[in-house]
Amino acid sequence: MVLLSDYPPLTLLLLSLPLLLLFLLSHLRRKISTSNRRLPPGPAGWPIFGNMFQLGEMPHRTLTNMRDSYGPVVWLRIGAMNTMAILSANAATVFFKNHDHAFADRTITETMRAHNYHKSSLALAPYGSYWRLMRRLVTVDMLVLKRINATATVRRRCVNDMLRWISEESTKSEKGVHVARFVFLMTFNLFGNLMLSRDVFDPDSESGSEFFTAMMGLMEWTGHANVTDLFPWLRWLDPQGLRGKMERDMGKALEIASKFVKERLEEKRENKTRDFLDVLLDFQKSESQETLNISDKDLNIFILEIFLAGSETTSSTIEWALTELLINRESMQKVKAELSSVVGAREMEESDIDNLPYLQGVVKEALRLHPPIPLLVPRKAMKDTEFMGYFIPKDTQVFVNTWAIGRDPDVWDEPLVFKPERFFDCKSDYKGHDYELIPFGAGRRMCAGVPLAHRILHLVLGSLLHRFDWELDSSVTRSTIDMRDNLGVTMRKLEPLLAVPKLTGS
Ligand code: HEM
Repeated sequence: MVLLSDYPPLTLLLLSLPLLLLFLLSHLRRKISTSNRRLPPGPAGWPIFGNMFQLGEMPHRTLTNMRDSYGPVVWLRIGAMNTMAILSANAATVFFKNHDHAFADRTITETMRAHNYHKSSLALAPYGSYWRLMRRLVTVDMLVLKRINATATVRRRCVNDMLRWISEESTKSEKGVHVARFVFLMTFNLFGNLMLSRDVFDPDSESGSEFFTAMMGLMEWTGHANVTDLFPWLRWLDPQGLRGKMERDMGKALEIASKFVKERLEEKRENKTRDFLDVLLDFQKSESQETLNISDKDLNIFILEIFLAGSETTSSTIEWALTELLINRESMQKVKAELSSVVGAREMEESDIDNLPYLQGVVKEALRLHPPIPLLVPRKAMKDTEFMGYFIPKDTQVFVNTWAIGRDPDVWDEPLVFKPERFFDCKSDYKGHDYELIPFGAGRRMCAGVPLAHRILHLVLGSLLHRFDWELDSSVTRSTIDMRDNLGVTMRKLEPLLAVPKLTGS
């Protein structure tokens, strides 16, 4: 994410002095060209730094508070970057309905340039033919209903492994289990199996644990605010060393991913379910009419991208959902009662999801109140655009604050209350058509993994709740539990949830 504020101002000022003049001149030129046009309102900023120090460590919260002073569309300058923030469901509706195309590009952060990741990435691709091709492969060839159904047993097996790990862990400590950690590890094997038909988290395999460590590195460096994103002229200096660390870990992760691909190609695969790699390889081999093809490097980067896109987002959603249920005991009882009546003594299956409306409400409430990517993946204006009567210059980055929108009092009754049953009356869904609930974004650049994420979230949460009765660890109570969030690569709980599982009915 391209913001935040914890850089020592004096150091930055000194580093930037030689370029100050250049900046002021270009700023002046831009100002003259836009001075007759109306930008959205926003707080005054410092010279050079703009509003970066005002945003703080929790920009989604700070921006939400700005809505009272400036309204639902706020203008900021974060370092050298023009930024617009969308803070209400109504403004998001206008944005996605009328201007989705004009804002269909992405801002590329410095760490994502390591090993030219951004050139092969789907999530960061400029809006154009490469993006269209990759997006189609994911949404049409990998994640269509038939293919998702065909891999249900893989997900069930990975979830069962997770339930076993949690059970074993619970016998080792009375303090409670760090639930998000086990969900996270499970997602690695889950995506490993969907993409490459193999477990990738295997403490006994050297390449498995090296891959895991390298991927943890990628997530860590991506989640840090990087000063060079705000002042691109500092790029050569890499003042925080983030680009260097990213080059190292990305290099390692790519090397291991290509080894996985090679091993998988050497395997005999008669009668095996087609995995994502099959889809990519078939496309590579096809005599397609496309002018574009995908290189081996694109393919390896695609593999990393699915891990990056799906693992933290899933584990953080489950952690928040379980936390909310632990402090809202009535909702916990209702969801458990629903599971016992619909699923009974057997394991929960994905085919049960449609018959579990309360569980669906729990997942939606968790995503409404705790969206893992609270400002979505920033969009970028492809051209100068008129938006709600304002002039938005080309290259402006856009934060759509789904955290603020999920709390918008104009559309949500008692917005801060966790109330899964609210979705029995209101039919809001996160599939991208109801702009008051957009944890996966909306429009052309909406999350490409929604159908899969929908299955995984319900199966994982439903199985955790059906298999175990959960209690908070004895050192915290409903009133003392720490509900603060922490924004890194995703927004997760600052204090990880420790919860005590007991086998249901034991
Ligand atoms: C709880 C789980 C998840 C959440 C909350 C989530 C959220 C998001 C968000 C907010 C975006 C940006 C949307 C926008 O700009 O409007 C995004 C993009 C994306 N997500 Fe997800 N995601 C999740 C799981 C997944 C999974 C499981 C996959 C893959 C299998 C995935 C693949 C992608 C891709 C490829 C993009 C880029 C789409 C593009 O730029 O065209 N996501 N996701």
